[in-house]
Amino acid sequence: MGIKIEISDIINITKKIILEKKINDESTSLVCYDFQNIYTKINYLKSNFPPNTLHAIAMKANPLVKVMQELIDMEVGIEAATLPELYIAHKTGFASDRIVFDSPAKTMNDLRFSLDLGCYINANSFSELSRINTILSQMKSDSKIGLRINPQIGLGTIKSTSVAGKVSKFGVPIEKNRQQIIEAYCKYDWLNGIHIHIGSQGISIEQLIKGLEKACELADEIDAHLSKLGRQIEFFDIGGGFPVSYHKSKTAPDIKAYIEEINKRVPKLFLSGKTVITEFGRYIYANSAFAISKVEYVKEAADHKILSIHLGADFLLRKAYNPSDWHHDISILDAEGNLKQGADTKKYSVAGPLCFAGDFIAVDIELPVVEEGDFLIIHDVGAYTMSMWSRYNSRQIPEIIGFDKLKNQITTIKERETLDDLFNFWQ
Ligand SMILES: Cc1ncc(COP(=O)(O)O)c(C=O)c1O
Repeated sequence: MGIKIEISDIINITKKIILEKKINDESTSLVCYDFQNIYTKINYLKSNFPPNTLHAIAMKANPLVKVMQELIDMEVGIEAATLPELYIAHKTGFASDRIVFDSPAKTMNDLRFSLDLGCYINANSFSELSRINTILSQMKSDSKIGLRINPQIGLGTIKSTSVAGKVSKFGVPIEKNRQQIIEAYCKYDWLNGIHIHIGSQGISIEQLIKGLEKACELADEIDAHLSKLGRQIEFFDIGGGFPVSYHKSKTAPDIKAYIEEINKRVPKLFLSGKTVITEFGRYIYANSAFAISKVEYVKEAADHKILSIHLGADFLLRKAYNPSDWHHDISILDAEGNLKQGADTKKYSVAGPLCFAGDFIAVDIELPVVEEGDFLIIHDVGAYTMSMWSRYNSRQIPEIIGFDKLKNQITTIKERETLDDLFNFWQ
């Protein structure tokens, strides 16, 4: 199921925004999260996975506190990839046994903090296991600790977000280290979990399953050794990476199809009694938000038509720097919030506001005729956008609002940054 926000809802919300003058000469853009979409995605995830699954939603996809508070109410957990993310998770109110800490570069301080918190921890290397062992000889911890394995099943279609190639900075590669991995589980009696993550977007269900097959085979082998010591692996963290569609004309794979493949090819994952952890981020958020910017200028020079808007490489870092791998659909609403459509179209490039020649979020795309003062909608911006906001040129982060269709309510999730906020950031 790949639900997207309906264009009719986007129009309704935009009209409310216009009425409330939330977009004006000063506040020129806005990001809107659809809460019902997020609830639906989480409920769908929960209804398809076995009930004992801990869904630790990847904070790196979207760290907005007011959105994460909704996750707590929905009884899911959170995955943190750095010490600050761990701190934010804790401060937001996630119980320690619903937090998974996955940083690939944990310092001794990070490890002490996380062990003291008692959250799940996935170690990224043998050296990290050795550091954890040192700390555990000095303090007690309720943490459940796993080891991240790189199943080395190959890259997805996007190289920069694929992490299960032959060489990766993440996890212990399985091929040449099998024996050493098994020995580590036997040596450390506190090591009781296994973790994999294949990549983010550009990964097929087939690749996700291949990763699980490799990790399950290894887990069986480890368990065979551990059973002689009266232990078993207790949790299996399958990571995130479930792909979404950024094109209105393409449908994304369904979580149901993933579960069916798991049941067919790696049934043990759900039958062995181990706690299953997932770390989906993009799946929950990407299609759950859209951005609106006022079209400030329509620049017509020779045969080039360039739209100047107020969100660019600061907000859509990946799209601007790596345009061939990433895409966002764009719609145009007029100054009253009505959808512009029809056969009368022109080719435009869409430029962000930054002082950098590569700041384009679309090049030569067909759009209805655009005028200054229209609104440009960027679809599917709920994941890896705000969390990747760039401070280049010191642009103010726009107001972020939440929309609840059932309550017909708009709320502020985060106020727009002030000029003083920015001054304080740099001093
Ligand atoms: C370890 C880990 N878990 C989970 C995720 C979330 O991936 P996605 O948002 O594609 O589900 C990532 C993202 O790269 C990750 O590195």
